[in-house]
Amino acid sequence: MKLLVINGPNLNLLGCREPELYGTGTYNDLCRMIEEHARKLNVEVEIYQSNHEGDLVDRIQAARGIFDGLILNPAAYTHTSIALLDALLAVRLPAVEVHISQVDEREPFRRVSYIRQACIATISGHGFSGYLEAMDLLTKPEVQS
Ligand code: DQA
Repeated sequence: MKLLVINGPNLNLLGCREPELYGTGTYNDLCRMIEEHARKLNVEVEIYQSNHEGDLVDRIQAARGIFDGLILNPAAYTHTSIALLDALLAVRLPAVEVHISQVDEREPFRRVSYIRQACIATISGHGFSGYLEAMDLLTKPEVQS
């Protein structure tokens, strides 16, 4: 089984970016946690980050037929991007939306998620562990059948 983790803009700055919201762990720490969890679950994982909406769309499109599930934290594009929603609807892969912070308890504009309707679940406010929970979910036999 192959999972793809896609991270959107400014997540490369984890560790120094608003640590009171996102914690002090760096983007590399996050990648290491995900890779370690993948080894435990015995799945392959690829991790991608971009600050550019079109690059994220391209990566989702390229996942079709190659990956068995997507874990997506589109960061600020969550709240603005119909293009990401359409890409997810097009590839028809099981996808989980992840946010490090509790988006529903922040500014009202963060309560809007365009991609949510194309995802099987949303995990928000669990810090970096949210990505690992999403991996657990996507590897469940009932999700993959
Ligand atoms: C975020 C929440 C978004 O509102 C914000 O724009 C981000 C990170 C999160 O992981 O909590 O960049 O997706």
